[in-house]
Amino acid sequence: MAQIIDGKAVSASVKAEVAAQAAQLKEEKGLEVGLAVVIVGNDPASRVYVNNKKKACEAVGFKSFEYALPEETTQEELLALVEKLNKDKSVNGILVQLPVPRHIDEKAIINAISPDKDVDAFHPVNVGKIMIGEYSFLPCTPAGVMRLIESTGVDITGKQCVVIGRSNIVGKPQAMLLLQKNGTVTICHSKTKNLKEICLGADILVVAIGRAKFVTGDMIKEGAVVIDVGMDRDENGKLCGDVDFESAEKVAGYITPVPGGVGPMTIAMLMKNTLTAAMQQNGLM
Ligand code: GUN
Repeated sequence: MAQIIDGKAVSASVKAEVAAQAAQLKEEKGLEVGLAVVIVGNDPASRVYVNNKKKACEAVGFKSFEYALPEETTQEELLALVEKLNKDKSVNGILVQLPVPRHIDEKAIINAISPDKDVDAFHPVNVGKIMIGEYSFLPCTPAGVMRLIESTGVDITGKQCVVIGRSNIVGKPQAMLLLQKNGTVTICHSKTKNLKEICLGADILVVAIGRAKFVTGDMIKEGAVVIDVGMDRDENGKLCGDVDFESAEKVAGYITPVPGGVGPMTIAMLMKNTLTAAMQQNGLM
C-alpha cells in the first residue's frame, strides 16, 4: 500500500516559511508584501479560487488588493488596470484570474503584466527563463508538485519521469522542472501511443490530463511516486482526480490524494512567488 503524500501538511510548512520571512521583512525593512488579484466576470469557480488566494494572503501576513471587474469590462480597461498595477510600488505581485471573458485576449493581458510582478510565471519572459533554468518564479502548480516529490525523499536524478498532459500551465513547465532535477522525462498526451507501457516504466508519474480516474493501478509501476494534478468529478458528481486512487494506491509507493494533495500546494507556491517578487523589487535577492 502506498504512503499518502499529505499536501495540506506540506503546504502548511511552505506557508509557515513564507509567513516567517514576511514578518522579518516587515520588522527589519518596514516592507509589507502586496498581491493584487484581478477577477473579471462571475465565474463561480474563479470566485472561489480568488477568495482562497485572499485568505492565504491574510494567513501569511501579506496585503491583498482585489479588483473584481464586471463581465463587460473591455480589454482596454483591463490593460489600463494592469498598467496601473505595474507602476504601483505597494503591489509586488499581479495575478489576473483565468479564464477571462471571451471578448478579452488572454495573451495580451498576460504579456502586459510586468515579468517582475508575474507571480503566476505565465509571461513569455518567465516561461523562457524556465526553459534555461534561470528562474525567479516557478509556475505555482508544477513548483508545488516538485515540493511534494521532495517531501517523499525520492531523488529525481536518473529516474524515469512521465508527465501526462502538455498544457502551458502544468505539463510543459512540469517536464522542464523534472529535467532540471536530472530526471529522464517523457511527456505524454491524448495522441500518445502505448500510453500504458510508457506509464508502467515511470518511477515518477505526474498526471495532469483532466480526465476523471484516467490512470488506473494496472498502468503504474510497483513503488512509483504518483502525483495527481486532476480536479474532476466522478460518475456520482464527487470530487476526484485523474488517477483512480483505489486501484493506484495498491501499487504505488507514494501517492497524492484528491482533494488534499496538489491543490493546497498551488496557493502556497503563489505566496512564495509573491514574497520572492517583493524581495527582488527591493534589491534583497
Ligand atoms: N485559473 C486557474 N488556475 C489559475 C492560476 O494558477 N492562475 C491564474 N491566474 N488563473 C488560474
